[in-house]
Amino acid sequence: MQIVRLKLKNWRNFREVDIPLGPRTVVIGANASGKSNLLDVFRFLRTVAQKDGGGVQKALRERDGLVKLRSLHARRDPEVRIEVELRAAPPEEPHVWRYVLALRSEGTGQQRVLVAEERVERDGVPILERPDAADRKDKERLTQTHLEQIGSNGDFRALAESFAATTYLHLVPQLLKHGDEIATRIPENDPFGQGLLQRIAKTPRQTRDARLKRIQKALADAVPLFSELRFEQDAVTGLWHLEARFTHWRTHGAWQRENQFSDGTLRLIGLLWALQEGDGLLLLEEPELSLNDGIVARVPLLIDRVLRSRKRAATSRQVLVSTHSETLLAHSQGDALLLIEPSANGSTIRPPTAEEAEQMQHGLNPAEVLLPKTRPDSLDQLGLWE
Ligand SMILES: Nc1ncnc2c1ncn2[C@@H]1O[C@H](COP(=O)(O)OP(=O)(O)OP(=O)(O)O)[C@@H](O)[C@H]1O
Ligand SMILES: [Mg+2]
Repeated sequence: MQIVRLKLKNWRNFREVDIPLGPRTVVIGANASGKSNLLDVFRFLRTVAQKDGGGVQKALRERDGLVKLRSLHARRDPEVRIEVELRAAPPEEPHVWRYVLALRSEGTGQQRVLVAEERVERDGVPILERPDAADRKDKERLTQTHLEQIGSNGDFRALAESFAATTYLHLVPQLLKHGDEIATRIPENDPFGQGLLQRIAKTPRQTRDARLKRIQKALADAVPLFSELRFEQDAVTGLWHLEARFTHWRTHGAWQRENQFSDGTLRLIGLLWALQEGDGLLLLEEPELSLNDGIVARVPLLIDRVLRSRKRAATSRQVLVSTHSETLLAHSQGDALLLIEPSANGSTIRPPTAEEAEQMQHGLNPAEVLLPKTRPDSLDQLGLWE
């Protein structure tokens, strides 16, 4: 299932959003313009729809409540509203879905956060409309969505599963390399990649080998002197490790473990693994970090290649990327592009205008046309303090 349109009201630093999404979408904007906040909408829906231990109250708790979530720019109507339109194509049952979730604080009494509206449409026909009579009788019901309840989402289970299948990746190499020393706890869904080795270890052998082979192929192109990748269990500790062989002056080269890999190599491995794991929406936060520009230029191609090489109709996997990289953007021709523009009234998001699209058709790349528009006017002053 692919999300083709997103509408938001009062979501973090956005008052109003109404944007199209493509199979691949790249979102750009200045620091603090709201890129991560935009990606967070889909992480929120994932938590709401999660089967074990998810739910809307949990998603709110993780964000310190509706008060923190609701836009400071909100005016008279303080409701937080998410609306998504999704399209399923064969081999899935072909349907157009719409899901609406609006939340508001009760304001009095227990100060609960309640579902102000929950709505599901399939091919334009409403199959859920809340609040319903039962909700009006028992307000407590409005503390939960039907999306999160297996007993209530039978008619739109595919929708719930699609939200729950979202992956978010913002791999931090240091956490993976020094996980033992830092003794950090691995957060749920492992967005920073600390649990990558455990996840690889848990994958059935055949699948694991096939995935690592694809990664090996990509690394051979991207990382100088790299020649081989393997996944080995330490005979003494029983822990699993990634090992890479680099061509070396010694005839057989040298094997290195992941804590000796370069940051970029690790990030690339994390990215390539994530692309192959799961079918849901993949959220990639600044995939360019630590990577050489020459590789960044090939990231869009790499994403495409890996997705196409998978067995299932993997081209249907949707990817949403946030980036600051001129190179990545320059090589994102053909992807849907979104530009975030901050203002005193909150940020707005838009696709390229007709004029900008025309400039791109006439040979300018997306970075040349769009990036200058994401630079704050005050930037000239940066570093010129007296
Ligand atoms: N409820 C809210 N109302 C208004 N603004 C908010 C709200 N919650 C968060 N923000 C603001 O949204 C801004 C954008 O944050 P976000 O992390 O999405 O930026 P970003 O584009 O990802 O930036 P970067 O490129 O630095 O990662 C932050 O300055 C934050 O203070
Ligand atoms: Mg960010």
